[in-house]
Amino acid sequence: MRYNQRRLTVVSLETSCDESAVAVMRLNRGKIEILASLVASQVSEHAQWGGVVPEIASRRHLEALPSLVRDALKESGQKIQAIDAVAATVAPGLAGALMVGSVTGRTLAALNKVPFLGVHHLEGHLASVLLARNAPRPPYLVLLVSGGHTELIHVEEHCQFRRLGHSHDDAAGEAFDKVARLLDLPYPGGPAIEKMAEKGDAYRFTLPKGRVSKPNGGFYSYDFSFSGLKTAMLRKVESIKASNEKIPIEDLAASFENVVAEVLVERSLLCARDYGLKNLVMVGGVAANQRLRRMMKSRGEVEGVAVHIAPRAFCTDNAAMIGAAALIRLELGSSASSLELGISPRWRLDEASSLYQSPPPF
Ligand code: KG4
Ligand code: ZN
Repeated sequence: MRYNQRRLTVVSLETSCDESAVAVMRLNRGKIEILASLVASQVSEHAQWGGVVPEIASRRHLEALPSLVRDALKESGQKIQAIDAVAATVAPGLAGALMVGSVTGRTLAALNKVPFLGVHHLEGHLASVLLARNAPRPPYLVLLVSGGHTELIHVEEHCQFRRLGHSHDDAAGEAFDKVARLLDLPYPGGPAIEKMAEKGDAYRFTLPKGRVSKPNGGFYSYDFSFSGLKTAMLRKVESIKASNEKIPIEDLAASFENVVAEVLVERSLLCARDYGLKNLVMVGGVAANQRLRRMMKSRGEVEGVAVHIAPRAFCTDNAAMIGAAALIRLELGSSASSLELGISPRWRLDEASSLYQSPPPF
């Protein structure tokens, strides 16, 4: 089997949303190396519509991938013949966008007679922390905060995931995007709010922390809800507008960003403490937020929990994390995915191993 080699090189593709990305990744004596990682962002094109337009996303992936694959290989110094496997995100995400990456990946794999690995997008985000220096080894708790997900995941072993908490409504990134729109800030909302918040007073407005009630009393300690916070922001803006005062965008942005960070940090550390986990990992687009990064690190230190955060460049969608996840699967001895594997807009992370089964799950 090729996979007993000490060196493995994969080409990986990510097209689940609005970033077309290709990477060339290598596993070298147990270490993951980035040989090339390119991202062609479509953000400016979607920004004029205030959010991602699925049809436009698929078309742009289709146009961008051929040159991205060529350029990534060139940058990596590798010939396609030297590649051991091809990986592409197959779930979850926008159906049309996923199809473009999947078809391109399977075609590259078939033409070059190498295995194809369909990768779960969230498993990719989880692997992004392995691109940091001094990456931790499982077991650890992961806070995954992106545009589509806010989850606390116990990683017992590589590729063994147990969800301990989740959002009951909006994901944290989605809340950033919606609140940005409310404040007339551009899409994507996270970076726009972060920039405004720099000059704002984070304690000017008191905002709700969105606890999720249990049907028979009490709260789900590790779950999240951001819809009440979004409504509270709307009410504040409306009442300021009604009094004809200038909207204090900077203070509103800072207060919102601060309360989201507090909720994420408090519930993650509580969960880590309750489960006796000494390592906490943070990944996903929202993990790029500097206030959140600082708060998680400093409060973790107080609690005696080591906090590991994905490098900022690999928090938002990229193909390096997809390649890293594929390399881990290969190292653990997963067989390749079936070339008949399709795509799925929704698929649970704890079902990710089914992507390597035959017959495929979808
Ligand atoms: O992980 P990601 O690129 O895509 C998904 O898988 O969803 O995350 C995108 C989300 C968007 O909602 C965006 O507003 C948010 O991450 N985001 C941020 C920051 N950068 C991106 N949120 C807060 N602060 C940031 N600096
Ligand atoms: Zn993502």
